[in-house]
Amino acid sequence: MSERTLVLVKPDGVSRGLVGEVISRIERKGLSLVALELKHVSKELAEQHYAEHKERPFFGSLVEFITGGPVVAIVVEGVRAVPAFRQLAGGTDPVEKAAPGSIRGDFGTEVQYNLVHGSDSADSAKREIDLWFPNL
Ligand code: PPS
Repeated sequence: MSERTLVLVKPDGVSRGLVGEVISRIERKGLSLVALELKHVSKELAEQHYAEHKERPFFGSLVEFITGGPVVAIVVEGVRAVPAFRQLAGGTDPVEKAAPGSIRGDFGTEVQYNLVHGSDSADSAKREIDLWFPNL
């Protein structure tokens, strides 16, 4: 069944010129782009987006990082889009968890600078898409 997920190319992915690479992998997987925007992220949006992590020790630096440069936000649609993009992204830690062949496994080394975000469930995807694309 078709579903939607929110993908972010984080500031490190944008500054390293990996937006096209991420989009290409999404398209080659067979998923579709529904909406796409280059955004400068406010502190308020960042804190809402990562609200479930607000008690974690890295919350402050994660918010600072995601607001520190432009982000490309993409709504992606397709069959099993949520887990399919998580598979493309690879695990959170680009070295310890992400397999070679995944975006993080191929291009990342540091946990914070892990290039992309993908919603972790259909419920999170709905909440995040409403947050990032309120007019969709
Ligand atoms: S997940 O996707 O929720 O299972 O990942 P999780 O490991 O719980 O991490 C949640 C988000 O926090 C980011 N993260 C970190 N940022 C900075 N420093 C450290 N140490 C760190 N650990 C995790 C991680 O990249 C997740 O962000 P998103 O944007 O969801 O990928």
